[in-house]
Amino acid sequence: MSTAARNDIDWGNLGFGYIKTDYRYVCRYKDGKWDEGGLESDATITLSECACVFQYSQSVFEGLKAYRTEDGRIVCFRPDLNAKRMADSATRLEMPPFPEEKFIEAVKMVVKANEAFVPPYGSGATLYLRPFMIGTNPVIGVKPAEEFEFRIFVTPVGPYFKGGAKPIVVKISDFDRAAPHGTGNIKAGLNYAMSLYPIVKAHEEGFAENMYLDPQTRTKVEETGGANIIFITKEGNLVTPKSDSILPSITRRSICYVAENYLGMKVEHREVFFSEVPGFEECGLCGTAAVISPVGRIYDHGNIINFPAGMEEMGPVTKKLYDTLTGIQMGRIEAPEGWIVEIDK
Ligand code: PLP
Ligand code: COI
Repeated sequence: MSTAARNDIDWGNLGFGYIKTDYRYVCRYKDGKWDEGGLESDATITLSECACVFQYSQSVFEGLKAYRTEDGRIVCFRPDLNAKRMADSATRLEMPPFPEEKFIEAVKMVVKANEAFVPPYGSGATLYLRPFMIGTNPVIGVKPAEEFEFRIFVTPVGPYFKGGAKPIVVKISDFDRAAPHGTGNIKAGLNYAMSLYPIVKAHEEGFAENMYLDPQTRTKVEETGGANIIFITKEGNLVTPKSDSILPSITRRSICYVAENYLGMKVEHREVFFSEVPGFEECGLCGTAAVISPVGRIYDHGNIINFPAGMEEMGPVTKKLYDTLTGIQMGRIEAPEGWIVEIDK
């Protein structure tokens, strides 16, 4: 049996914020190899002022969640795909890939050590894991570091968008989040640094997120600052944008599988022109943090696209996808082979 959740945290009212937990996993790379790695209690990092991460942003990260199931187990959702994507991100930024098996062991170790911070089943909160890797030795000429730190900390979180499953309004951004042939397809901190100015502006204007178009032609839908996008057609098909400059979302790939194999839907993973969007029936953002967040309205420089389900409720097909995906994640619905990893095992 797992340890119960702490009773001094108001689980039902958590936002998406950082709460310091007891342990983090740390593994260091030096002289061409990773050390043994293990749990540490110090949440701070002390580095040279000239560390590559500070000067040249050599930093990649991941995001995944641990859940309590109805029958009291603690599980993670597809950590093997986070391990693989982090290795891809590291390779693109000239960092040594963290061994994928060791990544999964580290996930289990850090969740187990912080078990009391895994929110209760049914509370609406989950434990968010943030694996990350940084270049740590001093570098002043532009070149990769030779020493690195891989860490995973955990923090309990509530919904990413205020209002939980209520539809949000997004705006078409005047900025690009990625360049053609750039780093949009990996999870590098630098992609998020350049989205900070646009997201602050969007929030000031009252929008929940920025929807980015393709940086080359500005005619195709890419993704938002922190999530991929799904659309539902009038025929009830799932459409998701395909692009080399968006992050290959694990949630989106899982939703496509669920749509096809659990709900019998047709799935179209293809280029999506922005001019098609007014013809879609439903729209949502998907990601680990966003789960599936319905979009009720898109604002495009004075033109407004309203989706038929309105601003109060998730559209019916989005809701079915949401219920099936979260049912699998929380152990209510049988998962495809290998999707659910138990922490105690
Ligand atoms: N796109 C961006 C830019 C993201 O930051 C995220 C979050 O991880 C996603 C998409 C969703 O990816 P995933 O479903 O793997 O969490
Ligand atoms: C995630 O969903 O894990 C992310 O990294 C998105 C981020 C905007 C919180």
